[in-house]
Amino acid sequence: MPLDLLLGLQWGDEGKGKIVDAITPDYDIIARFQGGPNAGHTIEFDGHKHVLHTIPSGIFNKNSVNVIGNGVVIDPAIFLKEIDGLNKFNIDLTNKLLISKRAHIILPTHKIIDASSEASKGKKKIGSTLKGIGPTYMDKTGRNGIRVGDIIDANWKDRYESLKEKHLNLISNFNKEIDLNLELLEDQFFKGIECLKSFNLIESENFLNQSIYQGKKILAEGAQGSLLDIDFGTYPYVTSSNTTSAGACSGLGVPPNKIKNIRGIFKAYTTRVGSGPFPTELFDSTGEKIREIGHEYGATTGRDRRCGWLDLVALKYSIQINGVTELNIMKSDVLSTIKELLVCTSYNLDGEEVKFFPYDIVSKKITPNYKEFKGWDEDITQIKDEDDLPNELIDYINFIESFVEVPIKLISVGPDRKQTIIRKK
Ligand code: GDP
Ligand code: IMO
Ligand code: MG
Repeated sequence: MPLDLLLGLQWGDEGKGKIVDAITPDYDIIARFQGGPNAGHTIEFDGHKHVLHTIPSGIFNKNSVNVIGNGVVIDPAIFLKEIDGLNKFNIDLTNKLLISKRAHIILPTHKIIDASSEASKGKKKIGSTLKGIGPTYMDKTGRNGIRVGDIIDANWKDRYESLKEKHLNLISNFNKEIDLNLELLEDQFFKGIECLKSFNLIESENFLNQSIYQGKKILAEGAQGSLLDIDFGTYPYVTSSNTTSAGACSGLGVPPNKIKNIRGIFKAYTTRVGSGPFPTELFDSTGEKIREIGHEYGATTGRDRRCGWLDLVALKYSIQINGVTELNIMKSDVLSTIKELLVCTSYNLDGEEVKFFPYDIVSKKITPNYKEFKGWDEDITQIKDEDDLPNELIDYINFIESFVEVPIKLISVGPDRKQTIIRKK
């Protein structure tokens, strides 16, 4: 049985958590393959709202097994908090959650390096979530990292101490002093390590490949978005992992020829949290209106999300890099009452019209060219059937489909699991 992927196609927060949760009943296993607690995946049902950072979004379904894959970086302190939060819901986590021994661990000093590095960059800061993501992946690729499998070894603390020493040296070289209480961070860290040890720590690549062989249905859950990919995103304003479909192979140990459907999730508009280029960003009252109605505030950091029009040049690029086979449009309900909607169909770069996502959108000034659409006034949040949606929204969706040449199979009209319209065609 092949495996399916679910990925965000913009700069994150597209609504991945909602859709993973909504489609989990179709799968036996949900596996996260990259990123760490920089992610905030929101799930709403039965009047409750949950935000997950490390744990896959299939956790609320009784029958699914959830895997934290080797490509993920884990902060034990945040992991412990998430587990505590979920324990209130009587979920049998011991049997439902499996963790790769190859996943790397975020140390307290990784978080201090992250904060020091950002502070020293001044205006050029990335806008990191300050969860220690970049420094942890640096130690992974630098071959210095500590992995989940290491914490079972009685002598692992020697390695911890020597890496910490190295980090403290590095921190002393930054020109900014960061006031983070290392003792407190370490206290929470070691409590988190004990919590991690109480779980099934496994060779998840073996488990997943055997599950594929046994005919189990697996969904790989992406974090962040394609435009934050370390290779293909708006570098250096990106995260430190491959958020695109290839990242699922390296982040889970599953071969490319086992991947079937690649579901791409995008908002009916665009948001970005943190610094970096954003060609269709709105700086006016429409941008504020979208932020207000869409509750566009970071699920991890609470920061305002920057809001703007849908960018089809960027979307087409993400679809190409990922090999997206089906699209899901999210948050179209947020656009209700906006009189006139703009969609970017090309850019002007150095006086020329370009239809591809260029290498340098960081230092070059890009101006978007827009196509205009008529908006709709109706509240669409209770609509269950696509035939009842306003014609203006259908026109908007049809145009996107024809532009990117990939079918939109799901329309999300609200944050709740149930506010999801599956299209008939
Ligand atoms: P993720 O990181 O991709 O999982 O997305 P986030 O959870 O960070 O951000 C998406 C936000 O939009 C969350 O607050 C969701 O509850 C909410 N959301 C998801 N889908 C919809 C939708 O169709 N309409 C509205 N209004 N909100 C949605
Ligand atoms: P989900 O999975 C939105 C952004 C940060 C910053 C940049 C680098 O919820 O979609 P990092 O902490 O990785 O060093 O930050 O990436 N970022 C996200 N933006 N959603 C996310 O995750 C993000 N994870 C990181 O704001 O600009
Ligand atoms: Mg999010």
